[in-house]
Amino acid sequence: MRMSNEEMKAPTDLPFHKAQPYRIKVVEYARPTTREQRKALLKEYGWSAPNLPAEYVYINFVTDSGTGAMSDRQWSAMMLGDESYFNCKSWYALEAAIKELTGFEYILPCHQGRSGEAILYEVLVHEGDIVPSNTHFTTTRAHCYSRQAEPVDLLCAEYMDPERKDVFKGNIDTDKLRDLFKEQAKKIPAVELVMPNNLNAGQPVSMANLREVKEITNQYGALLFLDMARLPENAHMVKNMEAGYANKSCLEIVREACSHADVIHMSSKKSGLVNIGGFVAVKDRTTFLKLHPKLIRTDGFITYGGLAGRDLEALAVGLLEGVNDYYLMDRQRQVEYFANALKKRGVAIYEPAACFAVFINAGKCLPHIKPIEGPGTALASQAYIEGGLGITPFDSLHRAREDSKDPLNLAKLGLSPFELIRCAIPRRVYTEAHYEVAADAVEAAMKHGAQIPPYRRIKVDRPPIELKDIGLRPFFDEFEPMGVHP
Ligand code: F0G
Repeated sequence: MRMSNEEMKAPTDLPFHKAQPYRIKVVEYARPTTREQRKALLKEYGWSAPNLPAEYVYINFVTDSGTGAMSDRQWSAMMLGDESYFNCKSWYALEAAIKELTGFEYILPCHQGRSGEAILYEVLVHEGDIVPSNTHFTTTRAHCYSRQAEPVDLLCAEYMDPERKDVFKGNIDTDKLRDLFKEQAKKIPAVELVMPNNLNAGQPVSMANLREVKEITNQYGALLFLDMARLPENAHMVKNMEAGYANKSCLEIVREACSHADVIHMSSKKSGLVNIGGFVAVKDRTTFLKLHPKLIRTDGFITYGGLAGRDLEALAVGLLEGVNDYYLMDRQRQVEYFANALKKRGVAIYEPAACFAVFINAGKCLPHIKPIEGPGTALASQAYIEGGLGITPFDSLHRAREDSKDPLNLAKLGLSPFELIRCAIPRRVYTEAHYEVAADAVEAAMKHGAQIPPYRRIKVDRPPIELKDIGLRPFFDEFEPMGVHP
């Protein structure tokens, strides 16, 4: 019999605060490469770790999405997958787990986060609407544009201090949100709160901020959408940082957060501890019924949403493993371990390292490169050359934000507030020794200092991107170094 969710929460005096609360049963070998090979590979594949064939990336922090290791509990559950087309047994297992995690009643499975978002935006967002957010993830931004609506990011001012650790820096600016409602309430069907705020150094959102957004949306009759891809990890930050939560379990905190939302959507490839999967849930039955035909058109019948029965089973188990307090404590410990390994070597990071990633402050590491010439892009390339490390530039070159009122005008692209590189930590995959050698690679890269070349955007032979897809531009831009990497 596998250990039950309840047994996994039992009190313990084992040092789960110091070491992983699990052992490793299956391993994946890394392909040996040399510095010269990596240099050649980088050139061949467009100077970007996300573009490389993954087998050539030794330590892959490009994303934490779908890259986690599943547990023996999940693999054994997969054998129970019921592959019936309609109303398979596995759906009811997943539905029960989602109800336990979120308290929502009207739930639809979908194959990943963005397919769920697509049907929500199709039903609830219309031409001319405005959807404010603490910062839309790339895909909800794209769904806004595809609905001919405008995504508006209202990030809090605290984010602008990259050293401060004692506040929630992923919050939405509620003063600005109130002002926007005062001026434009009729155009705002919903607020999208991303918890934690992936595109802004993964910073957590406080429960107080969520409650305040709820008050505002209630006052104006708008909906509160909660993007909960990594909500359990945010819940762990709430438990540690926010008054009144220290004695609550992360599951209780997640449930409270969900109770404030009208609509939730989750890419379960993150905190769901699966390689594929997602869901959406709503409180209103009519909306639920309106979503049914959309889901059937895009993902499949309403009891599988584009997933195999075995995927539904893996997610039913993973969702509750992913909110276990011991697991989350260890997860944050690993993120901090890597952050400290970098800091010990003099690498500047955005503080605090929270939830799922460490963001390197590449602007500080390579001050000779101007923001628009990609300090993050340049440092990430050099770190791949040094140690086969895959990390994702979030700098002004890669992620310059379009003017939301004139998104096709590249001349109006804005700089990022900081020149960051995201090191997203896959779940249950790497060990402390990997974090040390990953930090070694960044340190070795940084040592080349002014020898590392700046980058520029190059013209690519592609059909122009349509307005409705403009939010996805960062995936198609290409760059090259204006010099030779050491
Ligand atoms: N919301 C957030 C906050 C996300 O980070 C992602 C994906 C999605 C929605 C979309 O989910 O990929 O399952 O369709 N983030 C990945 C990343 C891709 O690397 O940050 P999806």
